[in-house]
Amino acid sequence: MSQRVFVTGGSGHVGANLLRALVGRGDRVRALVRPNSGREAFEGLELELVTGDVRDPGSLAELVRGCDAGYHTAALVQTVRGREMELYRTNVLGTRNVLAAARAAGVGRVVVTSSLGAVGQPESRPCSEEDAFNPFEDHLPYEESKAWMEHECLKAVVTGQDVVLVVSTAVLGPYDFKPSRMGRVVLDFANGKLGAYIPGGFEFVGAGDLARGHLLAMERGQKGERYIVSTRFLTVDELMALLETLTGRKRPRRLPAGAMLVLAHVSSFVLNRVAPARPQRFTPDAVRLLSLHRKADIGKARRELGYEPGAIEDALRAAYASFVARGLIEGAVPSAAPELAR
Ligand SMILES: NC(=O)c1ccc[n+]([C@@H]2O[C@H](COP(=O)([O-])OP(=O)(O)OC[C@H]3O[C@@H](n4cnc5c(N)ncnc54)[C@H](OP(=O)(O)O)[C@@H]3O)[C@@H](O)[C@H]2O)c1
Repeated sequence: MSQRVFVTGGSGHVGANLLRALVGRGDRVRALVRPNSGREAFEGLELELVTGDVRDPGSLAELVRGCDAGYHTAALVQTVRGREMELYRTNVLGTRNVLAAARAAGVGRVVVTSSLGAVGQPESRPCSEEDAFNPFEDHLPYEESKAWMEHECLKAVVTGQDVVLVVSTAVLGPYDFKPSRMGRVVLDFANGKLGAYIPGGFEFVGAGDLARGHLLAMERGQKGERYIVSTRFLTVDELMALLETLTGRKRPRRLPAGAMLVLAHVSSFVLNRVAPARPQRFTPDAVRLLSLHRKADIGKARRELGYEPGAIEDALRAAYASFVARGLIEGAVPSAAPELAR
């Protein structure tokens, strides 16, 4: 049934894929956009844009007005340390503001995007929704902010609001306009600019699978519950093999994780002081996260939402095709990817 829904974070990677799923099935969508947000994610989509910022409660009333339901995907996504107050204001207080605005406007269910970083990691099995975030382990400030964001959602549920959480793993897929950290890996590999890689592994989710998970959570999720939506675990070696097949290029050299951890500590220390704005690939946190080999159990999403993941190869192919279509891969012909919009 067609609904009027609001979406935050539509200019981002997750939101851009969600918008396409919602508009594609006929929902009437109102999307939040900041004055300086990129607009590529909205091009060619029939939807209403409203200017605002999740940190500014007063700017959210127009977004939620008359909506049946909403999707809150906006967040400050940050895999390096620093900017803690900004993380808190955007991810924690911003979520509080969005939920309060939705509540005041009588909006029904709000589906909120969380992260595997807000889920605890047991020692001997894949993590599940039951595994509580352990505040005494070493976490990125971003992960902590997502755990506190989940608290805001649960507090809203206690007041009677209908909120469901979708827990995302690392996203791979098209319409990655910023691009994301994983999108940057695909781009750099395809352009021969990935100098080296480190071993390890993580859970990945195709952006299309994640969008579908959000729709299923809206339709079938239980109020106050969280659902891990992932596609599959991949080692970095497996990811490199997939990228070799996709791009026809050879993978760069593989560095030992132990040695990289020492180097990463030194280079991050220096870069944080001399060039804090410069993106860093091998941070101590990146090395630590990959060496954890985190696996996630998607049994709850399967049982309660009827979620079934697609193939991660398809998500990677779609990511690559989307970059080709936008002319971002040197030597690749944009018309070779005709099935995807820019
Ligand atoms: N990508 C992943 O691998 C991953 C993994 C786990 C969980 N997640 C979660 O998925 C969600 C979406 O992430 P993403 O990968 O799509 O991130 P993204 O590409 O960086 O997009 C973030 C979105 O949030 C918006 N936003 C940030 N600050 C805002 C503010 N103050 N007011 C309004 N909008 C604001 C951004 O708008 P602008 O364009 O204006 O900056 C953008 O639309 C987040 O909740 C994130 O925690 C992502």
